[in-house]
Amino acid sequence: MTLQDIKTIAVIGAGTMGQSIAQLCAQAGFTTILYDINATVLANAQAATLASLQRLVEKGKISVHTQEETLHRLTFTADILQVIANVVIEAVVERLDVKQSILNEVADQNRPETVLASNTSSLPITRIAAKVQGPERVVGLHFFNPATIMQLVEVISGAATAPEVVALMQELAVTLGKTPVLAQDAPGFIVNRVARHFYVESLKLLEENVASHEGIDRLLQASGFKMGPFQLMDLIGVDTNFSVTSAMYEAFHQDPKFRPSRWQQQKVDAGHHGRKSGKGFYDYSGKA
Ligand code: NAI
Repeated sequence: MTLQDIKTIAVIGAGTMGQSIAQLCAQAGFTTILYDINATVLANAQAATLASLQRLVEKGKISVHTQEETLHRLTFTADILQVIANVVIEAVVERLDVKQSILNEVADQNRPETVLASNTSSLPITRIAAKVQGPERVVGLHFFNPATIMQLVEVISGAATAPEVVALMQELAVTLGKTPVLAQDAPGFIVNRVARHFYVESLKLLEENVASHEGIDRLLQASGFKMGPFQLMDLIGVDTNFSVTSAMYEAFHQDPKFRPSRWQQQKVDAGHHGRKSGKGFYDYSGKA
């Protein structure tokens, strides 16, 4: 398959990342299918997409015609049978079994050359691919949050990934207006491996009562970071951030430097998942 053969992209999982990846693909001109098992999540994703495109129109960044065309290219569905595409990008919860099972399900109903890409932040592509039919077409395509804005995409080659598939995903990333960076298959790849300490150490400071989460955020922002770690965890999703740390802790054979925080675990258990749930380290209940 060449870049010109890619007409349709399906995104699985319409949460924080899936919504923005699907919007990005539709804006770039691809027929795009956004699938989720959860109808409420799908409705929220549709509303978020409408609002985001409307903001772009109001800022004069896109025309009303482009807005309409983009929406026309997008299908929101809870029917897995509609997930038929040249490229499938999964952005479901950070769990190996869920990713393997959903990719296998779509592998079954798609052509053998359909690329199966994972937006995983931390799970080894080789391990995901091991239980999927046609592991040579399984590849990592790791966008950053929000995918419509962030420039970087990590393209990850698993042990079985065909070099042509890796090259094709690099080309696709460029077509989507992104800068692809090639990474080999190590837990957390490049960015999350480095960034993990930003979160883990900040959580330790909080647990040791060295400073409040607001104080840590303010200090790090003042020192040049665009967002503090707690603001960022709320944007990412406290649950997703916790799953990524947990997966990396296991992948590095319980190396204490990646040990997940019990404080963060408690936030996850309480349903305080950040912006998407209305409350995380900060309260968003009063905000639209
Ligand atoms: P999320 O929790 O916001 O969304 C996950 C979605 O997957 C939910 O809507 C859920 O209903 C859906 N889902 C779960 N099982 C499913 C299934 N079997 N079939 C269809 N849909 C299913 O998660 P988020 O944050 O969007 O993360 C998704 C993936 O993207 C994870 O692998 C995460 O590591 C990765 N990622 C997350 C980033 C972030 O900033 N949140 C950044 C880059 C990657």
